Amino acid sequence: MQYRQRLGIVIVCLGVTMLFSVYSQLSDYFTYKLVKVNSDAPYISAPSSAYVSNLLTSIESIRKDCGQLCNTSRTGLPGPFFDHILANVNCIALFKNKYIDIGHGLPQAPGQIPTELIDEFTMNGRIPLKKYYLNQQYLGQKDKKLVWSEKLIEDWIALAKRGQLNGNYGAIETNALRDGLQHAPNIKGGRVLVIGSEIPWVEACVLEAGAREVVTLEYAEIVSEHPLVKTVLPYDFRMNFLNEKMELFDAVVTFSSVEHSGLGRYGDALNPWGDIIAIARAWCVTRSRGSLTIGVQYNFYDEFLRFNADRWYGKIRYPYLTTNWKQIYRGEGYQRVHVFTK
Ligand SMILES: *[C@@H]1O[C@H](CO)[C@@H](O)[C@H](O)[C@H]1NC(C)=O
Repeated sequence: MQYRQRLGIVIVCLGVTMLFSVYSQLSDYFTYKLVKVNSDAPYISAPSSAYVSNLLTSIESIRKDCGQLCNTSRTGLPGPFFDHILANVNCIALFKNKYIDIGHGLPQAPGQIPTELIDEFTMNGRIPLKKYYLNQQYLGQKDKKLVWSEKLIEDWIALAKRGQLNGNYGAIETNALRDGLQHAPNIKGGRVLVIGSEIPWVEACVLEAGAREVVTLEYAEIVSEHPLVKTVLPYDFRMNFLNEKMELFDAVVTFSSVEHSGLGRYGDALNPWGDIIAIARAWCVTRSRGSLTIGVQYNFYDEFLRFNADRWYGKIRYPYLTTNWKQIYRGEGYQRVHVFTK
């Protein structure tokens, strides 16, 4: 073969490999996102008036206990990556409020936001509202027990070390999280809270980064057989805090989780500030100078709420999501990893 022909073949092969790798990353993403679509989505069925009035009562109670934190009309100060918002947070009230952790109580995830709440969900129209319906009940489902074996987690730690752990979103996103963890104070040797994960890929990355212990907070009941990974359900998490039985955490890590909080998709009740409250509670349980590492879907200039699938964050909502946390590092990924300290 001519040199140029051989070169041509090599270039074509490289191209195919690259395309395949992009394709498998994307298909990972889309399989995960789309496989659970429920085609019988009740887009048009109007919620009952009893449901709406109960919901509005609980929202008013949450608004009261949340105080400044849930007022997204407040302005912040310029920060390194986006505005820095400060608020007085009443941690006891946030953990005590019984409405924050309830389920939506409907046979399927709510298909629409009651008109009375649209302004709160969209920050008075600043966040565009799109439609993308998913129905996945986790909250309070006792039969859905997941088991994380020690071997699985150890295998994933080893894969992460080699940069080859796919996790939930492909190796590129996993490695973006690993990079963030290298910039997050107190992960190494720390006791780390992980918020929301169906499979223990975040936990594997946190252990790989040198954490002493990991505690996972999830709606679903998970049995962890790994000695360094513990799990806690939302109710017990609340009660432990209120009974002062909770040792503070050195760091918090969350990836692709809080953007769903309060949208009803996983069985939780609608709550316009579900995401903000989840991160504020993390603030409450983190010791001073501890860190927060977070990956959520990120479009700096083009954020939106896709009801009920997820929120995309940018310059408008990210500042409220991370109220009080100091911005210290911005990494990579389409769920762009950001690191903060308390
Ligand atoms: C929210 O904050 C804005 C701006 O500081 C203020 O004008 C408004 O009264 C606040 N709303 C509530 C309900 O406290």
